[in-house]
Amino acid sequence: FSKELKQMIEAHELIRKFYHHLLVNTKDGQHALEYLLNRGFTIESIEKFQIGYALNSWEFVYKFLTKRKFEPSILEKSGLIIKREKDGTYFDRFRDRIMFPIFDQKGNTIAFSGRSLGSEEPKYLNSPETAIFNKSKILYNFHLARSSMRKLQQVVLFEGFADCIAANRAGIENGVATMGTSLTSDHVALIRRNSESVTVCYDSDNAGIEAAYRAANLLSEAGSQVRVAMMPDGLDPDDYIKKYGEDRFTKEIIGSSMTFMAFKLLYFRRGKDLQNEGDRLQYIEEVLREISQLDKAVERDHYLRQISNEFSLSLDALKEQQKQLYFAQK
Ligand code: UTP
Ligand code: MN
Ligand code: MN
Ligand code: MN
Ligand code: MN
Repeated sequence: FSKELKQMIEAHELIRKFYHHLLVNTKDGQHALEYLLNRGFTIESIEKFQIGYALNSWEFVYKFLTKRKFEPSILEKSGLIIKREKDGTYFDRFRDRIMFPIFDQKGNTIAFSGRSLGSEEPKYLNSPETAIFNKSKILYNFHLARSSMRKLQQVVLFEGFADCIAANRAGIENGVATMGTSLTSDHVALIRRNSESVTVCYDSDNAGIEAAYRAANLLSEAGSQVRVAMMPDGLDPDDYIKKYGEDRFTKEIIGSSMTFMAFKLLYFRRGKDLQNEGDRLQYIEEVLREISQLDKAVERDHYLRQISNEFSLSLDALKEQQKQLYFAQK
């Protein structure tokens, strides 16, 4: 690291410790701590993830760090403070927010995401891209999850910080999350390098299901064994754990995840009325196309039988059409 990068990291390390102190030990952070505890966060996970609180001040970070001899220009480049156009003075980027530090693979603090306590937008304010923080390469919690990922050859991919943290409380140590951006080819490669299989556990709302389909395709194309876990009623993993508890989450959601193919069977149903003949035929064709991509004859047979049973169609006819689709794609 160059001297400048070292200072950017050093500034993040110092302010992470201070944000954490403010949350855990001070009256100023008390409402933020109460918010987290009400949401089901525990002191243990607040410690483990080094969660903190940024004061409701325009210049706390600026003063705290310049007093410790950090150049304002470096702090600005690191994303912690912002320069005012009109007079060249600076103000803190994060104010009155719950602070989630983001670590690199070695455990250096390189960025933050700050959650508002109320309804202020954006809900999560993130550090900008900087010389030390590249959003498209970083997965939240990767530095802690890595060893169990490698040992189990299994990773669980979440959409949000809170989901990753709640799942961790439930014993899922090999969980990581993207941070508001969709999954990039760098994320996919990082996952592939460290694990054979991946369970995509995104929010079970519309946006989450669409994103899960996209992520699962990218991961599968990269050679990962993909499964998909879904919650009922549009919940996200954190909501689910709060509502039904940690045990049910690990057993009934993660433990009962579907194969990617089983997920596709549900996914292609979305927005279709299978009582309607046109929709039904379209659905069957989409599904046969996917089945024809499966490598294993046994798997193809399994899903063909499932379709045959569900729609009372002859297995031979389905097989015939599936083969035609297979050759048409070659
Ligand atoms: P969600 O909207 O699903 O939020 O965004 P969440 O994780 O469930 O948050 P809570 O439970 O309301 O606290 C998923 C992820 O997208 C990113 C964050 O990383 C968030 O965890 N995001 C979301 C942003 O970066 N900015 C936003 O304004 C919203
Ligand atoms: Mn502590
Ligand atoms: Mn979401
Ligand atoms: Mn969510
Ligand atoms: Mn949530």
